[in-house]
Amino acid sequence: MNTREAIRAGVIGHPIAHSKSPLIHNHWIKRYGLSGSYEAIDIAPDDLSKKLPQLFDEGYAGFNVTIPHKEAVMDLCDDVTDVAARIGAVNTLYKDEGRIIGTNTDAFGFMENLNVAIRHFGFSYTLQNGPAVVLGAGGAAKAVVYGLLEEGVPEIILVNRSKEKAEALAKNHPAAIRVAEWDQRSAVLEGANFLVNTTSLGMDGKDALEIDLRAAPENMLVADIVYTPLLTDLLKQARDYDLRIVTGIGMLLHQARPAFEKWFNILPDVDDRLEELVLWGEEGAGLSFYDESGTV
Ligand code: ATR
Repeated sequence: MNTREAIRAGVIGHPIAHSKSPLIHNHWIKRYGLSGSYEAIDIAPDDLSKKLPQLFDEGYAGFNVTIPHKEAVMDLCDDVTDVAARIGAVNTLYKDEGRIIGTNTDAFGFMENLNVAIRHFGFSYTLQNGPAVVLGAGGAAKAVVYGLLEEGVPEIILVNRSKEKAEALAKNHPAAIRVAEWDQRSAVLEGANFLVNTTSLGMDGKDALEIDLRAAPENMLVADIVYTPLLTDLLKQARDYDLRIVTGIGMLLHQARPAFEKWFNILPDVDDRLEELVLWGEEGAGLSFYDESGTV
C-alpha cells in the first residue's frame, strides 16, 4: 500500500471564490513538504446533502465549511463534537473510523489570536479581569462568546441591533451574559476590560460601525474580527485613544490550524509569510502584523 498517497481536502461554501482558505492550506502543504491538495468547492444549498457524501466517497479527507452551510451541515454529520454542538455550527469536517465528524475551530482561532497578541504586548493584562463587551449576536458572535466564557471572562455584555437575537444567545448562559440595547454600545464601555466587534459593520462595502470609545478605560483591549480593511475605523479610533488593538486576520489564520491537523496530521504554525500572503496576496509586499510598539 502506498502510505504517501496524496491527501485531498477543501472548503465548501456558496459562493466560494473569495475564500482565503486555499491560500492558507496550500501554503502549509508546500511548507511542510506534504503530498496533497486543497480546493475551493462551490456547493449550492440544495445540493449539499447529495454532494457532500459523494465527495467523501471520492476520497477527500475532509473540508472546511463556510457560509451558508455551517448550520445545515450538522445534519449530515455522523457526530458533532461538543464544541460544535455548543456553538451551534460546524466549520470543519473530518473522518474518524469511517464516520463523518463535524467540529468548530472558530473559538480556538479567536482565542489563540487574542492570546498570541496579549503575549506579544508584553504588558500585564488578563481577560479574566473584567467584563467583555461583544458587539453582534450572529454566527461569529456565538464562537467568540463560547471562547471568552471558556477562558474565564467573568461577564459578557452582549449588544446587538436585534435584541431578541442577543437574548436567544444569552439564554444559554444566563449567569454570565447581560444583554444591552444597541444604542447603549458606547455607554457600556465604562468599566469594560475588552471590546470585540463580531458584526460585519466596518467591513469594506458595509456600513460604518458608529461607536464612541471615550468612556473606555485606558487598559481596555479592542479587537475586531473584520480584516478587510485590516485597520478598521474601530481599531483606528482605539489607537487614537492609546488603547491596545488586535486585528481580525489572525482569527482566520489560527482557526485553520486544527482543521489542517485533522487531515494532514501536523499542527501548522502561523508564520509571517502566511500573514503576508493572505493580507497582500504575495510575500514581501506589506507590513508585518505588529510593529515594535505592539500595535499594528
Ligand atoms: P456572521 O455569521 O458573520 O456572524 P450573521 O450571522 O449574519 O453573520 O451576523 C451578522 C451580525 O452583524 C449580526 O449581529 C447583525 O445584527 P442583527 O442580528 O441585528 O442582524 C450585525 N449587523 C449586520 N448589519 C448591521 C447593521 N447595519 N447594524 C447593526 N448590526 C448589523
